[in-house]
Amino acid sequence: MKIRLDKYLADMGKGTRSEVKKAISKGLVRVNNVIVKKPETKLDTDSDHVLFDGVLVGYAQHEYYMLNKPAGVISATEHVDCVRLLRRRWRTPCLIIERKRKDLFPVGRLDRDTEGLLLISNDGELAHRLLSPSKHVDKVYYAKIDGEVTIEDVEAFQQGVDIGKEKLTRPAKLRVLKSGTQSEIELTICEGKFHQVKRMFQAVGKEVVYLKRLQMGTLILDESLKPGEYRELTEQEIADLCFYQ
Ligand code: URA
Repeated sequence: MKIRLDKYLADMGKGTRSEVKKAISKGLVRVNNVIVKKPETKLDTDSDHVLFDGVLVGYAQHEYYMLNKPAGVISATEHVDCVRLLRRRWRTPCLIIERKRKDLFPVGRLDRDTEGLLLISNDGELAHRLLSPSKHVDKVYYAKIDGEVTIEDVEAFQQGVDIGKEKLTRPAKLRVLKSGTQSEIELTICEGKFHQVKRMFQAVGKEVVYLKRLQMGTLILDESLKPGEYRELTEQEIADLCFYQ
């Protein structure tokens, strides 16, 4: 891929566009061992070698982060100079993925009060494959339910329930972890309709009181991430996701 030198460096977190332009004009940047002072110089991201202040900077076209989304924030973003998630009421930023590149976005959405796995990337093709309704990518949720979840609910979810759409939901796998006045369940769905898990339980007369996403496709939430924390995906996680389906 061919891109401008200043974009290359800004994408790789070396500063804002204007910061990297200054560094370039000061002679701090070498391309293939030659000092380059024009920020608009076009580079080949695959073959050119870039040194920033003497340190080699490789170019990653795509970046992938796993965020453990806390409750209380929505998964819309602002692109100022990093990815921020916003508190719903005032849309004030409260989470920052400290990367300078501006093209990162959350792959899919979670409700304000839902916690758990949120993939953040700039890979539009992967996002399309994970989110496209025709791909039926599995999403696994853990939930606490007000009321007793029964075998009839398991069967109803397997058949599909009416959540007010034209068609019933696709078959979903409900596993009851604990049944009682408050039940605990794990639910695997292969759709992503608005408030889908909550509406499925509403359809059987129950209320979700806590919801957390554990898995999306092959990607499993790293439970060592506290709410609000994130990490880059491993190469294996990226490969598994990219070759999924
Ligand atoms: N289903 C819901 O009801 N809410 C979410 O955030 C995700 C799935």
